[in-house]
Amino acid sequence: MSRTIFVTTALPYANGSFHIGHIMEYIQADIWVRSMRMAGHTVHFVGADDAHGAPIMLKAEAENISPQALVQRYASERPKYLNGFHIQFDHWHSTDSPENFELSQDIYRKLKAAGFIDTRQVEQFYDPVKGMFLPDRYIKGECPNCHAKDQYGDSCEVCSAVYSPTDLIEPYSTLTHARPVLRSSEHFFFKLSDPRCVKFLQEWTHGSQGNGAKRLQPEVLAKTSEWLGASEGDEASLADWDISRDEPYFGIPIPDAPRKYFYVWLDAPVGYLASLKAYCKIRGLDFDALVSPDSDTEQVHFIGKDIVYFHALFWPATLEFSGRKTPDMLHVHGFITVSGEKMSKSRGTGISPLRYLEIGMNAEWLRYYIAAKLNAHVEDLDFNPEDFVARVNSDLIGKYVNIASRAATFITRHFDGVLAYSGETQTLTDELTQAAEEVRNDFEAREYGRAIRRAMAVADRINQAFDAAQPWVLAKGIGEADAERKAQLQDICSRALAGFKALSVMLTPVLPALTERVARELFGQDRPFLWSDAAVLPGRIAAFKHLMQRVEPKQLDELFEPPEAAVVLPGGEAIADTIDIKDFARLDLRIARIVECSEVEGSDKLLRLSLDAGEGRLRQVFSGIKSAYRPDDLTGKLTVLVANLAPRKMRFGVSEGMVLAASHNDASVDAGIYILEPTSGAQPGMRIS
Ligand code: 2FM
Ligand code: ZN
Repeated sequence: MSRTIFVTTALPYANGSFHIGHIMEYIQADIWVRSMRMAGHTVHFVGADDAHGAPIMLKAEAENISPQALVQRYASERPKYLNGFHIQFDHWHSTDSPENFELSQDIYRKLKAAGFIDTRQVEQFYDPVKGMFLPDRYIKGECPNCHAKDQYGDSCEVCSAVYSPTDLIEPYSTLTHARPVLRSSEHFFFKLSDPRCVKFLQEWTHGSQGNGAKRLQPEVLAKTSEWLGASEGDEASLADWDISRDEPYFGIPIPDAPRKYFYVWLDAPVGYLASLKAYCKIRGLDFDALVSPDSDTEQVHFIGKDIVYFHALFWPATLEFSGRKTPDMLHVHGFITVSGEKMSKSRGTGISPLRYLEIGMNAEWLRYYIAAKLNAHVEDLDFNPEDFVARVNSDLIGKYVNIASRAATFITRHFDGVLAYSGETQTLTDELTQAAEEVRNDFEAREYGRAIRRAMAVADRINQAFDAAQPWVLAKGIGEADAERKAQLQDICSRALAGFKALSVMLTPVLPALTERVARELFGQDRPFLWSDAAVLPGRIAAFKHLMQRVEPKQLDELFEPPEAAVVLPGGEAIADTIDIKDFARLDLRIARIVECSEVEGSDKLLRLSLDAGEGRLRQVFSGIKSAYRPDDLTGKLTVLVANLAPRKMRFGVSEGMVLAASHNDASVDAGIYILEPTSGAQPGMRIS
């Protein structure tokens, strides 16, 4: 029976480029989608940029552009990655779109009408200089437990204590360095604690799809059960969910609530629907029919393990109680590590997907490697360079491509490309049909590693049979050979190539570009492989063409090298990433006269400078140069001031900028500190450019 399936991957925040973690998820989903399509199912596979929220708003502000322009900049580089890795979304949209505004507001209105929205006063830190409520990540201060300085608002990186921002000693806003004040404001809540909600989620999380497959993986269900209070009689303790943010915020306005916006996580998953809706419009499909509560379209979300709470609780609940269809299945994956090292969400890992493509590495190597290591569990996947080289070379080149290069050569040379099978072929057809069926099932169950192992076992059997028959012996002096020997040679090669064709079918979800060439160039088929092609024995083969290069270990070295030539200077530090003139122009550097310089009581590092930067007033700047200068050395001298650095509140007072000084990068090397001094003639206030 043909199914219709709506598939999504998590929507990436639109304030950064894709990192390898995104690419891994998209490859996983893309393999699944391709396999389902090869079985004749209809799949709508969509993505979008997750555009809203404070970090995007603030980043755009810092660059002096609109948040829309920032989002657009990242959106425009997406195709380079997606095409490069053969990731075939049907549509890519944005959560900052009319469709998403409409759908999010509609969902909210329905939740409200059904009694699921509450309002209450919430007291939060507010930055009086910036004029905004501060998300926790923009508040720092001294840890109340171990007194480490500059710790984030929610937990201490030094002693791991967890606390709330209001517990911080000397809290400051990382945006302005101002001391945040507590301010109260009305917030909107989604009542997750409502008994109807808890009851629904108990059922939904334990549910199965039409075909009997469980909606959640066992380890995901274990997590949600923990949250929901699994054991009988346990009181569920879901907290209501704060879904509103105050102005200024880049987001979707809450209807009838002036200056209030939806928290980004409310409208982000709605972006799945928005993208599908936009796609339906382009393709003339009936969106409402696909997502109505009684629709038999399956809704499948691929996500990482860090966002299960949002997708297994908030998202199904918001859909259910706004009268919409709920997801049929979540596919949760682990993180990607590189040689055992965890990646950082913002910096990614040591592997840059763009660099991978730019240095000419084959995208299908990575698809293969990832597939070979994925299973249906929420396990991390480790990218190991040696393992990568070994797998790709031994499996793809040594086992798979090798079959065609060896067998096709005999067929071209001696049989003019014609394949012929002597004896019965039913066993061969049955074997290949069964292997392909098993591999197809593995893909559907997301047991990709098992699928690959099965396919490689088939490749091993083909190679063994081929070697055991010693076709090169049969081919010797074939001109004068009897018909029987010729037929035997042709049969051996034909069976190997039938196996090669079936293997190509099995690998099509993973290696779509390569197998498309195999279908077209070797087997003369004008469309990509379907699962049903595995059992059809080929009748001809074209002359073998080179199919795939081996990975060279030095390519892996290149992948991990820092992109710029790492010139190590006497200062010990490599030159930083290239910036353009616009980046530089954001720095306002001025000539300043050190009018006064004094020691700072209680500090053995700092000197206090009073600077005249031609502004008609003096600035106070604290500088960590006490080890190198006595106050008298500096009084009266000219130097360079970073004049537009945000003022920073220090224990001794506010520092209004920074003076430039040279030192060795490695603080343990005592090579001195040298403040900059212009050549004579420069005047306070002159801009440096
Ligand atoms: O964690 C993230 O990167 C989010 N941008 C994922 C959003 S998924 C969906 F809800 F949009
Ligand atoms: Zn601490």
